[in-house]
Amino acid sequence: MDLGLDGRRYVVTAASRGLGYATAAALASDGAHTLIVARPSESLDAALVGLGSGAQAVPVNLTDDDAAEQIMTALGTAYIDGLLVNVGGPALGRALEYTDEQWRVAFEQVTLTSLRIIRTLVSRINEGGSILIVLSSTVREPIDDLAASNVLRPGLAMLVKDLANQLAPRGIRVNGILPGKIATDRIITLTGGTPEGLAAVEADIPMKRLGSPKEFGEVAAFLLSPAASYVSGVLMPVDGGLLRSPW
Ligand SMILES: NC(=O)c1ccc[n+]([C@@H]2O[C@H](COP(=O)([O-])OP(=O)(O)OC[C@H]3O[C@@H](n4cnc5c(N)ncnc54)[C@H](OP(=O)(O)O)[C@@H]3O)[C@@H](O)[C@H]2O)c1
Repeated sequence: MDLGLDGRRYVVTAASRGLGYATAAALASDGAHTLIVARPSESLDAALVGLGSGAQAVPVNLTDDDAAEQIMTALGTAYIDGLLVNVGGPALGRALEYTDEQWRVAFEQVTLTSLRIIRTLVSRINEGGSILIVLSSTVREPIDDLAASNVLRPGLAMLVKDLANQLAPRGIRVNGILPGKIATDRIITLTGGTPEGLAAVEADIPMKRLGSPKEFGEVAAFLLSPAASYVSGVLMPVDGGLLRSPW
C-alpha cells in the first residue's frame, strides 16, 4: 500500500533513538522529509545520517520552556504535514512516594511539554495533516512503579479526543498511539536489563515477545499518513495483545 508520504514533511520529537527514531525512519523510508528533535548527542548525529538526505535535526531539550519556539525557528517558514509528539519517559516511582517536586517535574516533562509543542506548531500544519501523540498502555492499565505515567498519560489521551474535535474542522487529524513493551533502551532499562527480567515481562504479553521499534514506527507512520485520512480521535495500542480490555 502506498502511504502517500512522498515529499511530505514531518516533525518528530524525542527522535534520536527508540520510538521517535523508528517513526522517523518509517516516514523517511516512504519518501517523507523529517525534522527530528532531541538533546545534542552523538545519537542525534547518527540518527540524521540514517534518515537520508531529506532529513534535518535540531538539538533541543524538550523540557526547556522555549523548546517549541526553538523547533519553530528551525522550521523557518516551512509548513509541515504532521507531527509526532514524543517526550522522554518520566522517572520511576510509586504514587504515594513521589514528592510534590517530582510530580511538578513529571507534569512539565510529559504533559506541559506535549501541550506546548502542539500549541506552537499547530499553526504550521497543512490542511490534511495529522498529529500523533505517543502515550502508553498506562492510558488503560497502570504499571507498578510508573505512577507519573499512570496518572498523566490518561489526561493526554483525553487531550487527543479534545483536539481531534477542535481540529477536525481545520482538516487536521489527531490520534494517540499506545506502546506496550517495545524493545528500546528505556524498556531494556525498565526490565532491569537481565534475561530473567525480560522473560518475566515477555511472559505477560500474549505474543510472548517485546515489539520491535520498527513494528511501532510503521503503525505510527500509517496514522500520520494520508492513508489514514478518515482516522481521527483513536487511541491505537501497539502491544502484542498486552491490554486485555477492548477499550
Ligand atoms: N518503549 C516502550 O515500550 C514504551 C512504552 C510506553 C511508553 N513509552 C514512552 O514513549 C516515549 C519514548 O520511549 P522510548 O522507549 O523510545 O525511549 P528511549 O529509547 O529512551 O528514547 C528516548 C528519546 O527521547 C529523547 N529525549 C529524552 N529526553 C529528552 C529531552 N528532554 N529533550 C529532547 N529529547 C529527549 C532521547 O534523546 P536524548 O536523550 O539524546 O535527548 C531519545 O531520542 C517515552 O515517553 C516513554 O515513556 C515507551
